[in-house]
Amino acid sequence: MDMSIEAANGVKIPQLGFGVYNLKQGKNGVFEKTINEAIKAGYRHFDTARIYGNEQALGRGIEDSGLPREDFFLTSKVWTTDLGYWQTQQAFEHSCKKLNTTYLDMYLLHFAGPHYVDAWKALEKLYVEGRIKVIGVANFEIEHLEHLKKHSEITPMINQIETHPEFQQQPLREYMSRHQILHEAWAPLGQGNKALFENTELKDIARGHQKTVGQVILRWHLNRETIVIPKSSNPQRIKENMDVLNFNLSEEDMERIARLDTGKRYSVNPRGYQVNPMFVKLMKLFM
Ligand SMILES: NC(=O)c1ccc[n+]([C@@H]2O[C@H](COP(=O)([O-])OP(=O)(O)OC[C@H]3O[C@@H](n4cnc5c(N)ncnc54)[C@H](OP(=O)(O)O)[C@@H]3O)[C@@H](O)[C@H]2O)c1
Repeated sequence: MDMSIEAANGVKIPQLGFGVYNLKQGKNGVFEKTINEAIKAGYRHFDTARIYGNEQALGRGIEDSGLPREDFFLTSKVWTTDLGYWQTQQAFEHSCKKLNTTYLDMYLLHFAGPHYVDAWKALEKLYVEGRIKVIGVANFEIEHLEHLKKHSEITPMINQIETHPEFQQQPLREYMSRHQILHEAWAPLGQGNKALFENTELKDIARGHQKTVGQVILRWHLNRETIVIPKSSNPQRIKENMDVLNFNLSEEDMERIARLDTGKRYSVNPRGYQVNPMFVKLMKLFM
C-alpha cells in the first residue's frame, strides 16, 4: 500500500495505518501475533501512545517481523501528566526505549492538558534535532491551535481527532486545511458502534459496491484525504480494513455520507477533559 499524504515538511505519511489502543494483550504473545497479522496484511504505519501501555509489545511485534525499522512509520503520544519542557523530553525517551527505536516518525501531544505550550517546545527541539520526523497534536480544538500559534515556531503538522460519518469535524477540518495541518481520524470506524454499522444508507452504499460498511467508511475517509488508523484484533477484519483501494465511492455516495453528520461525538470532549487520577495510577502499573 503506497498511498500516502505529505506533511507540511514533505514527510510522507502512509494514509492507512493501524491503531493499537485496546488491542488484546495477554499471555502467549497474542498482541505480537496481531501485529504480525497486520504487517502481513500490509500495514506499516502503527499508532500507539504511552498511556496505552503497549509500546514495548508493539516494538517486539515489529522486531519479530524481521523487517528494517525504516520500513515502518511509528507514532506515539505524550500523555497529559507528562506535559512540560523536560517531562515531555523524558517521556519521549521512555517511549523510544519501549519501542526499541532511536527516533519516532510521528510524536503527538495526546491532549491540550496543562503546560501544553512548554511540551510543544520540547517537540520542536526534538524535531530540530532529527529525533522526530513529524510533530503534531491530538484532540486539539481551534482555540488550542490558535493559542499554540501565538507561542510556537513550528505549526503542528497534524491533528488526530475523533472522526467518523456521524461526527465529521467540518469546522475544525476547514481551519486545519487553511493552516496546512493534516487531519488524522481516531475512531475512524466509530469504535465499532453498532448503530453506525446498521445505518441503512451505509448498508445500501456497501451493497452497491459489494463491500462491507467498514470498508465504505474507510474509503470515505481516504477520499477526504484523512489519515486513518483503524484498530482490529480480528484477523479477518484486519485484512478487510486494508482491502479498500480496489473500489471507489461516487460523488453521490460521498454526499449521502456527508448527510449522516449529527455533530455529536461518541467519545470524550477535549474541551476541559479531566483525567481520572485513579485511571492514571492504574495505567502507570502497566507502562
Ligand atoms: N488520540 C486519541 O485520543 C485517540 C483516542 C482513541 C483512539 N486513538 C487511536 O485511534 C485508533 C483507532 O480508534 P479506535 O480503536 O478507538 O476505534 P476504531 O478503529 O474506529 O474501531 C475499533 C473497533 O471497531 C471494530 N472493527 C474494526 N474493524 C471492523 C470492521 N471492518 N467491521 C466491524 N467492526 C470493526 C473493532 O473490533 P475488533 O477488534 O473485534 O475487530 C473495534 O471494536 C486507536 O487504536 C488508537 O490508536 C486515539
